[in-house]
Amino acid sequence: MLWNAEIVALLERTIGLDAESIGPSLIDRAIRERLAACALDDLDAYRQRVSASGEELQALIEAVVVPETWFFRDREAFAGLCRFALDRWLPRHPEGVLRLLSVPCATGEEPYTMAMALIDAGFPMGRCSIDAIDVSAASLERANRAVYGKNSFRGDDLGFRDRHFERTAAGEQLKEAVRWAVRFSQGNLLAADFVSGTTYDAIFCCNLLIYFDRPTQVRAVAALARLLAPEGVLFVGRAEAAALRGSGFTTATVPRGFALPSAALPPVSVAAERPAMPQRLAVPRAASAPAAKPRWPGYPRIAARSPLPSASPQPCDLEHAGRLADQGRLEEAALCCGRYLQTHAFSAPAHHLLGVIRAASGDLASAAAHYRKALYLDPQHPDTLLHFALLLERQGDASGAQRLHMRRRRLEPNGEGR
Ligand SMILES: C[S@@+](CC[C@H](N)C(=O)[O-])C[C@H]1O[C@@H](n2cnc3c(N)ncnc32)[C@H](O)[C@@H]1O
Repeated sequence: MLWNAEIVALLERTIGLDAESIGPSLIDRAIRERLAACALDDLDAYRQRVSASGEELQALIEAVVVPETWFFRDREAFAGLCRFALDRWLPRHPEGVLRLLSVPCATGEEPYTMAMALIDAGFPMGRCSIDAIDVSAASLERANRAVYGKNSFRGDDLGFRDRHFERTAAGEQLKEAVRWAVRFSQGNLLAADFVSGTTYDAIFCCNLLIYFDRPTQVRAVAALARLLAPEGVLFVGRAEAAALRGSGFTTATVPRGFALPSAALPPVSVAAERPAMPQRLAVPRAASAPAAKPRWPGYPRIAARSPLPSASPQPCDLEHAGRLADQGRLEEAALCCGRYLQTHAFSAPAHHLLGVIRAASGDLASAAAHYRKALYLDPQHPDTLLHFALLLERQGDASGAQRLHMRRRRLEPNGEGR
């Protein structure tokens, strides 16, 4: 096992990566990859190289990050964004640009989903700008290409693919009207100079805080709070809400959102009349916004808005359990999942979710047991294959993790993976 405390500390200092959370085998694999690429076989020589060279440090970061993502990964959060944009932001801002941030954006699926969801909900996209930032240059290159394979389209509800993509020999090419809305740039959320001089009305920071230890989570959340506009909403990943504790963020009135107390506003009514949507406005972007793209190409509006989730969740269904987990109420979420399993004992998604909740609570043995059950019930459950692999890596079982990664890769067309 190739492990060097100084290299690990360097990674932790630079991008916040908590070696505990991703496990030694992933770090071992990344260091091996870089040793081979540098034609070095001496770990100490590599330590010196990576400590002295920013270029090599970036290469190591590229090897160690987990750019796992897909379109509409958390449907409820995107529905929450649409509710925020249409029911709250738009009525209060007859002019101006809705400013959105996706960090980390990985290979682009998340910010492009923000754009697709808003387009489908009827938001005037000429009044929206989405910045998308990630520390990985390789991921951003793929994001800019905007050509995606099967791995980026998961679940059954894939109508958005027909509306927003064109099939090409290389894969599904995202249409220009969606690409137009998103600007990608490289950045490190933990860097002192990470984005200045602007704030965002909504920020997605999903599936990053889980890789940080507690002090780094506190720093990251402070950076996000600084970037959030006074009435803005922050969306974090499932089971990441616990990272917000003590930060001043509280549950917002849009699904899956969090806000700072200054944003205490009357709740958004689900039944509220929506204002008439202006069609294809060509509004100049705010001076503070990064360079605008040439022009809004317009987008064919779809007849009906995509349905938004109900405001009153059914008790003890999986959505409700997920919501509790999102709010950091892990014990209640586990209880809810447990009750659901009493009547749906053979539900792989329920065992998967309970595994995620147990892992977030630090009960890795129970998490592993539920992941095992989920895979027994659905051997191809891709999320479980990934989460279980990460858990095994964290426990130092590199070969077990490797087997699960390989099983997951086999599900992808032509072994396509990241
Ligand atoms: C699991 S992906 C999450 C992508 C997306 N937000 C989602 O939820 O699907 C994690 C991403 O975090 C990026 N990352 C890791 N540390 C970072 C940092 N300090 N600043 C910005 N991006 C970072 C990685 O490059 C990787 O693409």
